[in-house]
Amino acid sequence: MAVDLLLGLQWGDEGKGKIVDVLTQNYDIIARFQGGPNAGHTLIFDGFKHVLHTIPSGIFHKTALNVVGNGVVIDPVIFKKELENLDQHNIDYTSKLLISRKAHLILPTHRLLDAASETSKGKAKIGSTLKGIGPTYMDKTGRNGMRVGDLELDNWKDKYKSLTKKHIKMLEFFDVDIQYDLDELEAEFCLGIDKLKTLQFIDSEEFLNNAMKEKKSILAEGAQGSLLDIDFGTYPFVTSSNTTAAGACTGLGVAPNKIGDVFGIFKAYTTRVGSGPFPTELFDEDGATMAKVGHEFGATTGRPRRCGWLDLVALKYANQVNGVTQLMMMKGDVLSGFKTLKVCTSYKYKGKEVTHLPYNIEPENVTPVYTEFKGWSDDLTGMTSEDQLPQNLLDYIAFIEKETEVPVKIVSVGPDRKQTITRQ
Ligand code: IMP
Repeated sequence: MAVDLLLGLQWGDEGKGKIVDVLTQNYDIIARFQGGPNAGHTLIFDGFKHVLHTIPSGIFHKTALNVVGNGVVIDPVIFKKELENLDQHNIDYTSKLLISRKAHLILPTHRLLDAASETSKGKAKIGSTLKGIGPTYMDKTGRNGMRVGDLELDNWKDKYKSLTKKHIKMLEFFDVDIQYDLDELEAEFCLGIDKLKTLQFIDSEEFLNNAMKEKKSILAEGAQGSLLDIDFGTYPFVTSSNTTAAGACTGLGVAPNKIGDVFGIFKAYTTRVGSGPFPTELFDEDGATMAKVGHEFGATTGRPRRCGWLDLVALKYANQVNGVTQLMMMKGDVLSGFKTLKVCTSYKYKGKEVTHLPYNIEPENVTPVYTEFKGWSDDLTGMTSEDQLPQNLLDYIAFIEKETEVPVKIVSVGPDRKQTITRQ
């Protein structure tokens, strides 16, 4: 059986957690393939809000198995807190959560290096979540990293110590003042490791390929968004992993010809947290309304998100890179009340109008060209079927489908599991 993928098509925060939660009932296994605690997947059901960072969003499902794949980076300290949150809700994860031996570990000093690197960049900072993501992936590609499987070796502490020593030396290179208490950080790290070691470590590529042979259904859950991909995103204002479809192959050990459906999640408008270009960003009342009505604050850092109109140039680019087969539109309800809506369909770039995402999309290089739509005032949050949706919203969706040539299969009209409309 093929592996289906679920990916964010913008700059993250599209609402992937909610959709994985809605879809989990159709899958036996949910697997994360990249990123780490920089992600914040929010799930709301039965009156509770849960935010997951590293744990796959299928953990609340009674029978689904959840795999943290080799492409993920794990901070044992944050992971422990996530598990403790699950304990509070009596979620039994011991038999449902499996960790790849090849996943890399975020050390306390990776976080310090992240902070030092960002601080030293001054105004050019990436706007990182400071979870140590970049330095950990640097150690991975530099072939210095520590992996979950190392924890099964007697001498894992030697490896930890020598890597930490190197990091402390590297910290000296940055001419910034980062305060830390290494003993305290290490004590916390070791407690995290103890907790992590209570879980089952697996050879995840073997596990997943066997599961496919046994006709088990698998959903790969992406984190961040396609425009934050290390190769295809708005470099250098990106994260350090491949957030696009190919990342699922390398982050899980699944061959490209084993990929089935690719579910692309996007918001009815656009948001971005952190620095970097954002052509359709709004600095006016409309942007402020989106932020307020959409509660646009980061699930991991609490930072306010920048808001703007839907950018179809960027969305089509993400569709293309990922091979999206079905679109899922989130937060349609947030646009209720706007008299006029705008959708960016091309850019003015170097004196020409272009419909592809060019190399430079900074404000001085591109000016968005918009198509306008009539808004709607109906409150969508209580709607449960497509026939209740206002005609102007249906026209908005039809335009997106025509431009992207991909059907919009789900329209989300609120954060709760129940506020999800499936289209035929
Ligand atoms: P890092 O991956 O924490 O180093 O952050 C790099 C960039 O990606 C920053 O602009 C972050 O704000 C952004 N980013 C990282 N993870 C997420 C996410 O889950 N949602 C939205 N933005 C993210």
